[in-house]
Amino acid sequence: MNKPIGVFDSGIGGLSVLQELVKLLPEENYLYVADQLHVPYGQRSREEIRYFSKVITQFLLDQGAKIIVVACNTATGAALNWLRDKFPETQFVGMEPAVKPAASKSRTGIIGVLATEGTIKSDRYISLKTRFGMGIEVLEDSCKGLVPLIEGGENDEAIKALLNTVLEPMISKGVDNLVLGCTHYPFIEKHLIELLPDDVDVINPAPAVARQTRNVLANHHQLGKGALSVRFFSTGNQAHLQNQVKILIPDTLEQIQQATFENFPADLFTDVPTDYL
Ligand code: DGL
Repeated sequence: MNKPIGVFDSGIGGLSVLQELVKLLPEENYLYVADQLHVPYGQRSREEIRYFSKVITQFLLDQGAKIIVVACNTATGAALNWLRDKFPETQFVGMEPAVKPAASKSRTGIIGVLATEGTIKSDRYISLKTRFGMGIEVLEDSCKGLVPLIEGGENDEAIKALLNTVLEPMISKGVDNLVLGCTHYPFIEKHLIELLPDDVDVINPAPAVARQTRNVLANHHQLGKGALSVRFFSTGNQAHLQNQVKILIPDTLEQIQQATFENFPADLFTDVPTDYL
């Protein structure tokens, strides 16, 4: 049996990455963990996010994962380098806002980045901007309250109202490329497209993350060949996650030959650094 690819996020955001992985690598087994007990990660401390990421990574490795895809910009910013130190034998693929492609494509020299507060404040993101945002104006917004609205499901009017306040100043300044720096946001792309002028490009890095995962596996001769299966885990409620998966990635779900939904063993989180809660 193929060893699985482990994928995790604070919630349903990483499903936007999973659907790209499945498109590119349809002969793999996947494990997907949604940390819905602790979502949103965006305003949590780096220590908490590292702790959650470590527990989930260990769980995925215990289930046999051959690679870990951190399908969360916030967890990548807070924890990826630290995870690589903690698990030196493990291959990780992380994700970060696509500042580089946006900056190189920009005609106006003004780009927008929508990401969580944690991502925007992370050293990783600051260094990314220094390297690739030279001579470019980068307008950021942490879209406070947006991830809970997306996790909560149908609330299109509230989502549009929030996006309107975020996008309006960016549009009036002349943004021509908008980076989705949080994996939850591809699920509201239709609202973004509706609110943005036609000449603004929206950049979703999920396909690039899928390609990177394929490259790492190919380099390690670890590409799988078999029937597509996904075990979904929620640290919250698996039945709720099952509903969200049906709504958000119906085509992917259709394609999966064996999909199971399980509760993540919440007692693995024994040691949450409470002084940060
Ligand atoms: N989906 C996540 C990201 O890419 C985290 C959102 C959150 O939990 O605040 O940043």
